[in-house]
Amino acid sequence: MLDELAVANTELVGDDLAHARRLAMSWRLLADLCFADLLMLVPVAGEEAHRFVVVAQVRPTTGQTLYPSDMVGTVVDEVERPLLRRVWCGGDITEGDATVIGANERIRVQGIPARRGDSMVAVLTRETPTTMGRKLGELERVYLDVFERLSRMVADGAFPFEREELAPAEAPTVGDGAIVLDADAKIVFASPNAVSALHRMGIHAYTTGLHLAELGFEDAAVMAALRARAPVTEEMERGDVSLLMRAIPLLSYKRPVGALLLMRDVTELRRRDRMLMSKDATIREIHHRVKNNLQTIAALLRLQGRRLHSREAQQALEESERRIRSIAIVHETLSRDASDVVPFDEIVRPLVRVVEESVSTPERWLHFAVEGDAGNLPGEVATPLAVVLNELMQNAVDHAFPRDGDAPAGGHVLVRLVRSIDELRIDVIDDGVGLPPGFSLEQSTGLGLSIVQALVTGELAGSMEMRNGEPGTWVHVRVPIAAPRVSLQAG
Ligand SMILES: Nc1ncnc2c1ncn2[C@@H]1O[C@H](COP(=O)(O)OP(=O)(O)OP(=O)(O)O)[C@@H](O)[C@H]1O
Ligand SMILES: [Mg+2]
Repeated sequence: MLDELAVANTELVGDDLAHARRLAMSWRLLADLCFADLLMLVPVAGEEAHRFVVVAQVRPTTGQTLYPSDMVGTVVDEVERPLLRRVWCGGDITEGDATVIGANERIRVQGIPARRGDSMVAVLTRETPTTMGRKLGELERVYLDVFERLSRMVADGAFPFEREELAPAEAPTVGDGAIVLDADAKIVFASPNAVSALHRMGIHAYTTGLHLAELGFEDAAVMAALRARAPVTEEMERGDVSLLMRAIPLLSYKRPVGALLLMRDVTELRRRDRMLMSKDATIREIHHRVKNNLQTIAALLRLQGRRLHSREAQQALEESERRIRSIAIVHETLSRDASDVVPFDEIVRPLVRVVEESVSTPERWLHFAVEGDAGNLPGEVATPLAVVLNELMQNAVDHAFPRDGDAPAGGHVLVRLVRSIDELRIDVIDDGVGLPPGFSLEQSTGLGLSIVQALVTGELAGSMEMRNGEPGTWVHVRVPIAAPRVSLQAG
């Protein structure tokens, strides 16, 4: 969003645009510390800073918003917000009275120039209700003081940090618990939530004025952040308690003058992570057992077939055995990878091998080839497709190359996989005798093709076609695949 807006409306490009993007990814902290909405505005291209467009917006999680509706994309002119031009041209943090954009409510606005080196990137505005004038508590005073320091860093180009590892989604916020430290890493202030977190770790001492280390608290993250002049995220475990910490250095003229330590109790989160992991293992184990059971069933069918005298009945059981083995192959793959997508290639190749091995006799030679790549498929698509492929290959084996007198019969079977974003095409092509005269897929009564049709057109909502090739038989199967869900990073 930020990128599109910037490109369409402003002159913000290249490294400056990247700077604005990074700012928009890390400024929630600032909004929380000043309890107010922040807007990021950039001059409209070619208008010499007479009008600005809002390219990003963040609401405080610690206070109320003045902008319940989305402001991104709104254009603000000089008459409504003269302060913007003053900040952009003068380059200083400036405060003034104003009204809520698009409304009459009077508010206080602070304009903060966001710089990268010497170039001006954007103006941030802090939009504070005038009712904030009431007497401030200690927490508010401390947070606002940290906000002031961070906004000076924004104006100096020191915030966002250049070397910032991407904050994890579960990164602690100001509301989770915050400790403010001075340049010597002594505690200046600890928020009630931070004090509670310390309590859970067994630290009950009165905190202010002490070093973290004196409290028996791991201070490596803070020390590392002060040394590196960049944020450091670390997880600490003590007893059953897991604490995720993010240390953010506060800089003045590039020198560390303190740090903000955010902390979040992630004990419950980690417990759930562990549970999910064991669920994964359980699912893998279930697939594994299903596969073993299928193989047992296949073996039983084989035993039973040997005891039969009717050739027809024997063949029927052999075919069932073969069908079950192809499903077992899919489960083999599913049990290796607990995710719900499987690389279909890893199913196709063993499947081809099984069919190839089952037909290799001295009187017959058959060459199988696989072309293309089916990519990843959801498990619920891979299983029926494996059965389909198995039937089609088996048909080529059974019908395409009948023995002609004493001459050894043989030929080629090609399995071609063509994957696009939303569709998979499977062609099974042989160079055998072709379909019997008058053959039509609709009127065919064989069990194999009935299964194939039911799976392709029914379960997989796809389509299929069979026709004579020159020579041999072509089978085309098309199956729609749900497009992969792509998560687009906003901003
Ligand atoms: N590749 C092929 N070449 C020649 N004929 C084929 C080919 N594939 C299918 N056929 C014809 O289509 C008919 C129906 O196939 P289908 O798989 O439904 O049954 P089947 O193979 O005879 O028996 P089943 O698969 O149930 O064991 C076959 O009997 C055969 O005549
Ligand atoms: Mg068949």
